[in-house]
Order: sequence, then C-alpha cells, then structure tokens
Amino acid sequence: MKKIGILTSGGDAPGMNACIRAAVRTALAGNLDIYGIKWGYAGLIRGEIEPLDRKVIANIIHQGGTILGTARSEEFRTKEGRAKAINVLQETGIEGLILIGGDGTFRGGTLLSQECGVSIVGIPGTIDNDCYGTDYTIGFDTAINTALEAIDRIRDTATAHDRLFFVEVMGRNTGFIALESGLAGGAEELLIPEAPVSVEELCARLGDNFRAGKRSAIVVVAEAEHPGESFRIAREIKDRIGYESRVCILGHIQRGGPPTARDRVLASSLGVAAVQALTEGKSGCMIGEINSKIVYTPLKDTWEKKKQLQTSLKDLLKILAG
Ligand code: F6P
Repeated sequence: MKKIGILTSGGDAPGMNACIRAAVRTALAGNLDIYGIKWGYAGLIRGEIEPLDRKVIANIIHQGGTILGTARSEEFRTKEGRAKAINVLQETGIEGLILIGGDGTFRGGTLLSQECGVSIVGIPGTIDNDCYGTDYTIGFDTAINTALEAIDRIRDTATAHDRLFFVEVMGRNTGFIALESGLAGGAEELLIPEAPVSVEELCARLGDNFRAGKRSAIVVVAEAEHPGESFRIAREIKDRIGYESRVCILGHIQRGGPPTARDRVLASSLGVAAVQALTEGKSGCMIGEINSKIVYTPLKDTWEKKKQLQTSLKDLLKILAG
C-alpha cells in the first residue's frame, strides 16, 4: 500500500483534528502518501482531495472541528453516488481509506467496502458515543465536560432562585451524554430514551424531592428524537403540579471547543492504529478501544448492534439523586 486517504463525516467532534494529525504522522513515518478528502463523502464524490503533509497538520491537536470539513451526504446513500466516489478513488489511486465518524458514516462505509476494492477502516468520532465496538468515541468526553460546565452554571442560578430547570443535551436517540453529564452534575432526574419516565412519575418524584426539603432541581433531558421536547415537558409539569421552570437547550455548544486530554489521547491512539491496520491488510472494520485495548469490529456491527448504556451508572444516579 502506497497511498491512503482520510475523511471526516457526519457531525464534527472535538478530537477529530488530533486523530487526523496522528494518522498523517504515522503514514508519513511509514513512507505512505496520505490525502485529505474534504467535506466527507460529499467531497469524495466531487473529488475534493489534497495531499496532507507535516505542515498542514501542525498545531491542530488542540482545535475542535475538523480541518478537512465534514458533511452529511444524501447522494452517497445512492448507488450512483457511491459509484462516483469509487471512480474518484480509482482515478487517484487511493488504496486505503480511513473514515472518522459515527454510525451514519459507517453505514456508508460498509456499502463502500462491499462495492469497491479499496481497504476501508473506521474510527469512531461522534459526541454521541453511540458506536458499538468501543467504550468511548472521540468527542464524547469533551461534550460531557462542556455539558457539565453548563449544568454547574445553571445550578448556581437554580439555587439562587429556588427554581426547577430542564437542561437538554444532545445525543441523537441515545442517552450517553445525558447520563454521564447528569451524574457528574448531580442532576435530580434524568430523562433518557433507554429508561423512559412518564410525566406522572416525574411529577411524583419531583414532588417527593420538594416535600423532602429540596428548593431547586435540575432535570437533564436527552434530546432524543425531538430536540426541544423539554419545553413540552416543562409545560406539562406546570399544568399538572404548578411548578414554574426554565428550559436550557445546550445544542451545538456541545460540539465545539478544544478537546479534553482524554479525547486527544483516544484520538491519537486510534489514528495510529488505523494506519497500522491498513498496512497490516485489515479492512471493513472499525478500530475502537475496549478496556484500554485496541479492538477491531466489523463496520456492519458498529451500527447494526446497539451499544448499551452502562446500567451501573443509571443505578448510581437513582441512589444519588433526590
Ligand atoms: O451526531 C452528533 C449530533 O450532534 C447529535 O447529537 C445531534 O442530534 C445531531 O448531531 C445534530 O445534527 P446537526 O448538526 O445536523 O443539526
């Protein structure tokens, strides 16, 4: 293998740049040419490819976002779109491809690896942490720390006003960000898709809390299918038991900013491992880390199998909230 490509796709995640840097350095050290594909699959279809060298990746380890740009490509979901992408790969002579992204990226990657002769490996990069085959995805640690900082700040004002707050965090249809930021932020309640709580139950539990002497509370809500659901829940609580509340939707703030040390270390180790995997002849797999060890999971499993929330953490929240 002489020539490899790298792209970032789907939602950006802090640590993607650290990962690109690690892959480029490893490739160059192994005398491989490495090319950056701009704007994810969309850029691949358009042939937006440029060589990466030491200069391009200098001083990016601490930067959020992705120097390659990213996108969600509708066209790549079609066979015709992928045929254009395969054509570009063949014309440029790229023999190995590194995909940094989440489950959507790996769905596309699975099809691409079935339809073309290029070796393909994935690296989990998404703030959602919802990829099967790795304990953590690149960007998750930064996102939960960003959410935590916001929760801490909201706690100050919630305490000052004796108020109930709903803090809505990202995570698509999973509760990983909500669970860990909620636990770390001392949330009184957690609303996540993996453990649904009815509004009746929530009212009863908040009522118990307030009767037991609490004067303020924070409910961390996973955005789930409908970002903005917190407003509806807050209204229902007001109608049922009369509690006034405030809603804060953290949104894309959770996607930006410098990656934490944990994310930089994970990104660096996966970036190195991805290049090594390609040179060892591996393909069609995602490189993750489980119990601090590099693990290879078939790309298909990363989105077909469901990663479970750590139930021990859920139990912990039950004991500590209230
Ligand atoms: O997958 C990352 C993520 O930030 C999710 O948490 C969120 O649901 C989604 O992307 C938002 O996507 P967009 O940036 O396209 O609005």
